[in-house]
Amino acid sequence: MSRKVIIAGNWKMNKTVEESVALAQGVVAEVGSVQDVTVVVCPPYTSLYAVSQVLKGSNVKLGAQDVYFEASGAYTGKVSISMLKSCGVEFVILGHSEQRQFFGETDETVNKKTNVVLAAGLTPIVCVGELLEERESGVTEKVCETQIRGAYAGISAADAVKTVIAYEPVWAIGTGKVASPEQAEDVHAFIRKLLADMYDAPTAEMIQIQYGGSMKPDNAKELLGKPNVDGGLIGGASLVAEQFKGIVIPA
Ligand code: 13P
Repeated sequence: MSRKVIIAGNWKMNKTVEESVALAQGVVAEVGSVQDVTVVVCPPYTSLYAVSQVLKGSNVKLGAQDVYFEASGAYTGKVSISMLKSCGVEFVILGHSEQRQFFGETDETVNKKTNVVLAAGLTPIVCVGELLEERESGVTEKVCETQIRGAYAGISAADAVKTVIAYEPVWAIGTGKVASPEQAEDVHAFIRKLLADMYDAPTAEMIQIQYGGSMKPDNAKELLGKPNVDGGLIGGASLVAEQFKGIVIPA
């Protein structure tokens, strides 16, 4: 078993084109030649093309923060997978809790989007995670199971291994309240067991599971040291190149 670590920066709704280019240049300077970790940056749509030009010739990959599941047509405000692909996008974040909370994302739309991303040959990063009240009432595993079964409905094992899962406890996102390495490992191990039930053990062993929620340079090493934590999906700390580097290459 050797899953490569994958660290992705989710810039969320931050950075103009000029600011994005500057941040991408910083990321390339800090971690552009790293080989043993897959490094991804996910700028807002408006910056994708400009950032793709900055990433050329480096090992840093380009990701998007969402996609619409229809191929083209009268869907004002939406962006299709072919548009993303033409910008050089290789990864697409799906089902982020902010999409679920504010923009009506459901397990069903995540499933449709997962299919569309896979069909285009890109890598979906499927986000799951519980709210604080769900953790407190002891239904964390149930919530993650429902989200994962929904997202992967009808998806074959051959396709499932081409996906990444991000476990992001909602109470840890942007709050500075990081899950303890043990809390993260417990849920990651549960998710891997669930994948083994849904598919088979070899498939489950191959799927990378990232942790997301207040991951910073000072807690990354411990989290990434856990056997089922294969990477990070980073919000705040991905907006400063030196901090992002501190997670990609923890001291
Ligand atoms: P923070 O790292 O800012 O908590 O955000 C995590 C996140 O939502 C990444 O997708």
